[in-house]
Amino acid sequence: MTTGARTFANQEVLDFYRALPFNYKASVDGAASAVRRQSTPYPVLVPYLGRGARVLDVGCGAGWHTHALAYHHGCSVTGIDYNPVAIARASAVADALSIDARYHVADLFLFVPDARFDMVLSIGVLHHTDDCVEGIRRVAGFVTERGHLLLGLYHAHGRRPFLEHFAAMKSRGASEAEMLAEYKRLHSALRDEVHVTSWFRDQVLHPHETQHTLREIVPVLEAQGMTLVSASTNNFAPFGSPQELYDLEPGFEDLARRRLTEGKYFPGFFVALFTRSR
Ligand SMILES: C[S@@+](CC[C@H](N)C(=O)[O-])C[C@H]1O[C@@H](n2cnc3c(N)ncnc32)[C@H](O)[C@@H]1O
Repeated sequence: MTTGARTFANQEVLDFYRALPFNYKASVDGAASAVRRQSTPYPVLVPYLGRGARVLDVGCGAGWHTHALAYHHGCSVTGIDYNPVAIARASAVADALSIDARYHVADLFLFVPDARFDMVLSIGVLHHTDDCVEGIRRVAGFVTERGHLLLGLYHAHGRRPFLEHFAAMKSRGASEAEMLAEYKRLHSALRDEVHVTSWFRDQVLHPHETQHTLREIVPVLEAQGMTLVSASTNNFAPFGSPQELYDLEPGFEDLARRRLTEGKYFPGFFVALFTRSR
């Protein structure tokens, strides 16, 4: 279902992902096999996922996260994305896996679910819209009472060295092929050629992204009745107050520079888990 609400969807971003969605494997079978081999990259979610838990993935792309949560954890999953190419692939892989999953072409700013969800994911999506903060408010509204939200965004400090690294290559006249080769050197875990190209485009050639901090987003979510549970910025360790996590944030720039020097992949991305407290 959709409403006539205002959208902050970015059309250039949609055109970019129509050409090749993010995290897109060469074949449906290859994508389904990868799901069978590996569960969610976010084990922090697992304690909150009872069998049949209702999960919504906002900006699900080709469906990586929801496939894993349905296949390995028995969740009932829904994914929305405004890119029909990604939704077609997400649905095809779900069929191949015979999982409890539904995928819809929808703009997150216009989508209105019939009921709220136990777990809402939005991983690497809202920083590609024209108003990330409005997007955060919107996805928070999809979470039921005592439900959870996992939000993934580029980090304002941690992302800078990666962007500067490729911007410097470009200004020295590097070709796209040379930048792809450099990306492959840093992110050597990806093997499938289509897959690595989809990541390279997403990480290096993207037409629009913004960067954020916990210091910025925690108050936005608190105003929506959500409380921070844990964050990747301290490896999901317990913390006393969010301020402890804010104090760590400027240090991610140095960490990202060190990782680049070591030839390690560090794209400057963070995730944070919130729960609805009211
Ligand atoms: C980097 S991809 C992430 C995909 C997926 N969350 C993942 O982690 O594999 C960003 C996704 O956000 C989607 N997206 C961006 N703006 C959107 C909007 N306004 N409504 C729905 N989807 C959107 C894009 O189509 C794209 O699939």
